[in-house]
Amino acid sequence: MLQKFGRDYATKSLVPGKRVYGERIIRKGKEEWRVWDPTSSKLGAALVKGLKNFPIKKGMKILYLGASTGTTVSHISDIVEHDGIIYAVEFSSRSMRDLIPLAKQRKNIAPILDDARLPENYAALIEKADLVYCDVAQPDQSEIIMRNAKVFLKPQGWMMIAIKARSINVAKNPKQIYSEERQKLSKMFNILEQIDLQPLEKDHAFFVGKMK
Ligand SMILES: C[S@@+](CC[C@H](N)C(=O)[O-])C[C@H]1O[C@@H](n2cnc3c(N)ncnc32)[C@H](O)[C@@H]1O
Repeated sequence: MLQKFGRDYATKSLVPGKRVYGERIIRKGKEEWRVWDPTSSKLGAALVKGLKNFPIKKGMKILYLGASTGTTVSHISDIVEHDGIIYAVEFSSRSMRDLIPLAKQRKNIAPILDDARLPENYAALIEKADLVYCDVAQPDQSEIIMRNAKVFLKPQGWMMIAIKARSINVAKNPKQIYSEERQKLSKMFNILEQIDLQPLEKDHAFFVGKMK
């Protein structure tokens, strides 16, 4: 469950008593709400910056590319609850060392140690997803999400991507990069929303769309 508390958002913890990344906790009776730090999560930043299209709901199946140690994944895990699942792909074994204990606490996270450029490697492990989320900070981030969406996304499924301009070209104007990436993504998705995450996340834009 997701709720607004002042400027910030918080998710109702699926595992009360456990912090994931040192986040602030708000207690309401027996409930614990984990405050979503918008400087540690691009999805948290997009919410604070007024994101209107937020499709993530209880029971959703999500393919998450670039899970890292699970900061954003943990909030999505609170929202989809036990009826949903997050297939969390990450290729760094260092990050996996933190992601695996998180998945032991939260049964709706399925960690996958693999390269998101090679979806055929994990195709047998994953069912069709309602949403593909991508935060890999790579020059080919748009191609990576499209390759995965082609294999795993349900018809009319959702996509969310954080575009890091500096991973694509440090010299180019970020706005020019966002427009080029939007054009690429538009071949497969109807882009419904684009948010500049400045100043919470420098040189990042966030896109939400639906499979055409
Ligand atoms: C910006 S961090 C992700 C932060 C995370 N999404 C969050 O909000 O908690 C990018 C992550 O993508 C991972 N990554 C980059 N390229 C990848 C690839 N080809 N396959 C899988 N993971 C990748 C990196 O190892 C890194 O952990």
